[in-house]
Amino acid sequence: MGTVLPFVAELADLERRTAAAKMLAEHVGAKDLLIFAPDEEVGALLPAPGFPQTLPGGREWREFVRRCAQEGRAQAELPYPDVATVLPASGIALRGGAVLVLLGGRPRDELVAQAVEALPLLAAAFRAERKATAGAGHAAAAVASTRQSEKLVARLTQLQGELQAALRELNEASRLKDEFLATLSHELRTPLNAIIGWAHVLQAGNLDRETTAKAIETIRRSAQSQNQLISDMLDVSRIVAGKLRLEVRPVELAPIIDATLDTVRPAAVAKAVNLVHEMEPAAGPVLGDPDRIQQVVWNLLSNAIKFTPTGGRVRVALTALASDLEVTVEDDGPGIDPEFLPHVFDRFRQADSSPSRSHGGLGLGLAIVRHLVELHGGSVRAHNREGGKGAVFSVRLPRHRLPAGGDVAHPEGAGSPSWIDDAPSLAGVRVLVVDDEEDARELVTTILTRCGAEVVVAHSASEGLATLQRRRPDVLLSDIEMPDEDGYSLIRKVRSLSGERGGLVPAAALTAYASTHDRAKALAAGFDIHVPKPVHPAELVAVVASLRASKLRG
Ligand SMILES: Nc1ncnc2c1ncn2[C@@H]1O[C@H](COP(=O)(O)OP(=O)(O)OP(=O)(O)O)[C@@H](O)[C@H]1O
Ligand SMILES: [Mg+2]
Repeated sequence: MGTVLPFVAELADLERRTAAAKMLAEHVGAKDLLIFAPDEEVGALLPAPGFPQTLPGGREWREFVRRCAQEGRAQAELPYPDVATVLPASGIALRGGAVLVLLGGRPRDELVAQAVEALPLLAAAFRAERKATAGAGHAAAAVASTRQSEKLVARLTQLQGELQAALRELNEASRLKDEFLATLSHELRTPLNAIIGWAHVLQAGNLDRETTAKAIETIRRSAQSQNQLISDMLDVSRIVAGKLRLEVRPVELAPIIDATLDTVRPAAVAKAVNLVHEMEPAAGPVLGDPDRIQQVVWNLLSNAIKFTPTGGRVRVALTALASDLEVTVEDDGPGIDPEFLPHVFDRFRQADSSPSRSHGGLGLGLAIVRHLVELHGGSVRAHNREGGKGAVFSVRLPRHRLPAGGDVAHPEGAGSPSWIDDAPSLAGVRVLVVDDEEDARELVTTILTRCGAEVVVAHSASEGLATLQRRRPDVLLSDIEMPDEDGYSLIRKVRSLSGERGGLVPAAALTAYASTHDRAKALAAGFDIHVPKPVHPAELVAVVASLRASKLRG
């Protein structure tokens, strides 16, 4: 019977501990052995380093080891090394708080006693090992968590940067919005001031013919400029909502440019700006919406005239390139500050938006231009003239190759100042006008009677329906928004009448609801045409004439 000491010595070596434990177990007559050592951090007895750290039926084992420590010795049947194998276990508390458990076999008391004597020598080694393991674990965990926090800090710094950028953008947007609102109210008030002022002067009466004409002309011009502002804002909101649509067909650009020159000529004359144009003959058509192309040219020309000093020159040219047509508008004003140039097509952006600025406008014109040109598949560019003062804007639109026999549309001449001269006669046409607003009724009545129409008015939908059956008009013009009963309801009731009672009367909705959706709604309700307010007198007369003609055609 040899001593247990060599085995205990072997056990001190962590790397050989498993094998040494097996040999010591066999030496004392058991099948296997385990040593549990107190863990200061956890406050419990855990398998010493080098022994299996998890045991089958963990709770039973924990209970057993605790009992050994408390009672000095304990016996139990415990699963080891797996749940399927149950071995008799005999546990003995060692000096220093560790517990030795012998499993299976027939341990011999004297050898066990020797082991119990010798094993506590290992306690210090176990403790050091556990600290080292925990230390290594902590170090690894610390490294991992440092890396993790470095990543977090980097992400947080990035997020902070993004937030600051978003905040800057938000502040800038908010500043631009405030600036825009200030500009907008200024731009709306200026013509309003003229309208109200001159209306009061007219009301006081006793004006000579010249002053009266001047008053009326100023009111017309001011209202027109407000109308322009509103149209621009509506266009921008349609652009933002992606709802702006083109009605394209093959169109020549030269007549569009000519018509636009006619509309801006008064402004140029007023500033003694010399308007010159150079048109390439037979440039050929583009595929486009003539009204929208005119809007583009008008915006560029108005800017050029606006920013050119008195006595300056504005030149517009139409050039045919290989696959595009190019319209260039050039002025000899101050040009565009190179720093502002990249923003010139942004909406609400103006080089000078201060209250003391010398030019009006909302900063929408060029944003609309760019969008319209891009919708046409074209491009627009701005630069300053080389070696001299002045800005140059050039728009390129793709040429349209016309199929043989194709029809090219020419734009209508821009609103003639005396619309009445060109208006068709409405003699013998009876028109029923339904509108709750007196001003609107009177305006329409005046325009139509000037052209020879007989006008009957109604103040509400119900009165309109009764009058229609009694007076049998040739054409019905109705407002949409009216108290009690609206224009949609009126036209539905009209359309439910028989032909003899007026159910087939050609009808137009005359309304300030001007969107495509409103148009569709009006047509669906039974109107033949939707005419958005404000309507030019010439257009109103043309609408009535064409509705009357459609009635005659039956
Ligand atoms: N021909 C030009 N010469 C110098 N600056 C110009 C010219 N055209 C445009 N700009 C600059 O670009 C800005 C934006 O032009 P844009 O047409 O979009 O707005 P606006 O003319 O100020 O107002 P709006 O067109 O809405 O009435 C102008 O305010 C001006 O600073
Ligand atoms: Mg403009």
